[in-house]
Amino acid sequence: MTPEEILELRRRHLGGSLSLSYRNPLKIVRGEGQFLFDESGRPYLDCVNNVCHVGHCHPRVVEAAQRQIGALNTNTRYLHDHIVEYASRLAGTMPDPLEVCFFVCSGSEANELALRMARTATGRRDVVVLDSAYHGNTGGMVDLSPYKFDHAGGAGKPEHVHVAPVPDTYRGPHRADDPEAAGKYADAVAGELRRAVLGGRSVAAFFAESIPGCAGQVVLPDGYLEAAFGHVREAGALCVADEVQVGFGRVGSHWWAYETQGVVPDIVTLGKPIGNGHPMGAVVTTRAIADAFDNGMEYFNTFGGNPVSCAIGLAVLDVIEEEGLRAHALNVGARFREGLAELGDRHDLVGDVRGLGLFIGVELVRDRDSLEPATEEASDVINQMRERGILLSTDGPFENVIKIKPPLVFSHEDAGRVIGELDVVLAGVPRRTS
Ligand SMILES: Cc1ncc(COP(=O)(O)O)c(C=O)c1O
Repeated sequence: MTPEEILELRRRHLGGSLSLSYRNPLKIVRGEGQFLFDESGRPYLDCVNNVCHVGHCHPRVVEAAQRQIGALNTNTRYLHDHIVEYASRLAGTMPDPLEVCFFVCSGSEANELALRMARTATGRRDVVVLDSAYHGNTGGMVDLSPYKFDHAGGAGKPEHVHVAPVPDTYRGPHRADDPEAAGKYADAVAGELRRAVLGGRSVAAFFAESIPGCAGQVVLPDGYLEAAFGHVREAGALCVADEVQVGFGRVGSHWWAYETQGVVPDIVTLGKPIGNGHPMGAVVTTRAIADAFDNGMEYFNTFGGNPVSCAIGLAVLDVIEEEGLRAHALNVGARFREGLAELGDRHDLVGDVRGLGLFIGVELVRDRDSLEPATEEASDVINQMRERGILLSTDGPFENVIKIKPPLVFSHEDAGRVIGELDVVLAGVPRRTS
């Protein structure tokens, strides 16, 4: 079908709430490594797919899926090697006492299960989240996602949800020049916990992405999670790290982004990269919380933890380890951020470059003092980059942060190409004034 025919059928048979990337939408028919190919065979460098983590259609993962789907796919009510092999391998990447795994089919479902666990283990209901957070597409997770409930079509903050500020040291109330910023942002979490109690409510959990993505690729200031988790635990609540976007070695220095903050959460939720594109997710927690959740109600998930998903999950872990992708993400990410920061010497639109490993944000501003967001300029940049064969997207509350989170096989050469093209595009992008 031509792109026009597909668009017409989308209009007729798909919901209008499904969005498309770019003003000139792409028809993509094939993926390989860090590249996507359109119907004419033109390659596009994929700088945003943190799902196809070890590379699009990685042959090792494809082979594992094909082999297992030809042998057996069923649910977890039969004994099978893969689910226990996979649970042991996954738990082995986490610090003690995180050792019990539950398998689901998406990041939203992982967060839903984490919420149920926290509520069952604490006997409480409320949740503290960070502003601009996104935790998933289910009713329960839209309720925990200011990114949704505070924007178009949202119904506002539900009573059981308490919102603490994102610890954004570039744009938030406490900035990078304040050595106490991490503690002040963590105190705001304590403030939400106190206000909840004063309002006669009790908090079951604090949910936080280990690097807030929809908030604009915000790297948490050192010490933030340690202090925030301290307040949460003092209040008798549990700490949930949402690693759906940033997990599986993307930060390079560690398997999990929460480790860069020196903390151990009570519950960790996983998704996106876990299956390199195959729909899976997981929740990893402590034996004590898993036992509290085992209250007589069976946990059954038709698809979660099936042998095909577990074979794929094992292959993804193998590839990350055998291809040294964590060290690669660390090296490529560090040089890439340096090069992006140098663009700031030539283009005053570049306000901030931040990130860990291959999870990077470039915030565009019209004025480096007022930090007026360069929203339309950011949109122009990603659309022009798409025409040049490089796929990027925007995020953040003002949609002015260029989001970079490529498959981990992304190379130094790819990074150089992105920097070179951005240099040209930033020079030509029409500037707006407010
Ligand atoms: C941080 C975070 N949590 C949860 C989710 C939900 O995951 P899924 O779309 O697999 O349900 C997302 C998806 O974008 C996410 O970014």
